[in-house]
Amino acid sequence: MSDVLELVDVSVVRDGRALVEDVSWSVKEGERWVILGPNGAGKTTLLNLASSYLFPSTGTATILGDQLGGVGTDVFELRPRIGMAGVAMADKLPKRQTVLQTVLTAAYGMTATWNENYEAVDEERARAFLDRLGMTEYLGRRFGTLSEGERKRTLIARAMMTDPELLLLDEPAAGLDLGGREDLVRRLGRLARDPYAPSMIMVTHHVEEIPPGFTHVLMIRQGKILAAGPMETELSSRNLSRCFGLPLIVEHTGDRYTAHGLPLS
Ligand SMILES: Nc1ncnc2c1ncn2[C@@H]1O[C@H](COP(=O)(O)OP(=O)(O)OP(=O)(O)O)[C@@H](O)[C@H]1O
Ligand SMILES: [Mg+2]
Repeated sequence: MSDVLELVDVSVVRDGRALVEDVSWSVKEGERWVILGPNGAGKTTLLNLASSYLFPSTGTATILGDQLGGVGTDVFELRPRIGMAGVAMADKLPKRQTVLQTVLTAAYGMTATWNENYEAVDEERARAFLDRLGMTEYLGRRFGTLSEGERKRTLIARAMMTDPELLLLDEPAAGLDLGGREDLVRRLGRLARDPYAPSMIMVTHHVEEIPPGFTHVLMIRQGKILAAGPMETELSSRNLSRCFGLPLIVEHTGDRYTAHGLPLS
């Protein structure tokens, strides 16, 4: 299986401080990864590297076979092959655009809409992705008026529009109520188990948000990788406790996880 992402000894340094340090990590085709770690650990920084919007200060990052900064790598050709849904993206999108336009513009690699008519085939795709995420009733709504959950689902549909080989999700369930979270986890689980779906990397703060079908976990603390590997072995109470710096117990029930601290004695 070929590498979707390969980081070798990657550090990103800003203002003399390493945001991530000596990170070596590889994601193979078909794998679905979850990234866990405390606030400020470097999770979004890893996604920014994976999306080719951030280059390593030292080390090498190879995405879908292209090395960042390497000879023959054109990030403008690489970026449409990667779908990214995160808070930073939401802020860049025009609030007055409709939900359908918001998703459609992704097909043209733009955050704004323009006057030209879109191809009917693209509109059909946009409608299909929005339908898959339960957004059919919102096609004509302005993006700026959506609730947190509706916005998250629109962004995921948008990230799927270019038919990416790699899909990056930064805290897709943050801000959702319990029903909204369960709905999204179910939809992401369905996507994760679809053999034609792209490779996926999802950042989350809560093991409860890990969709069934996700295969691997990476834990990061203070810019350094603590654990990376198959979910069954690496998502342990020991690793999670080290990652968050307090005693935690992880429980696995059916195809879902929960975590909690030790009871007061
Ligand atoms: N451009 C920058 N210049 C300086 N420091 C930065 C820059 N971008 C991020 N940082 C810092 O790097 C660290 C890692 O940031 P990152 O956004 O990757 O964390 P995170 O794990 O995604 O956290 P959260 O869970 O809060 O989203 C943080 O301490 C952040 O303040
Ligand atoms: Mg983050």
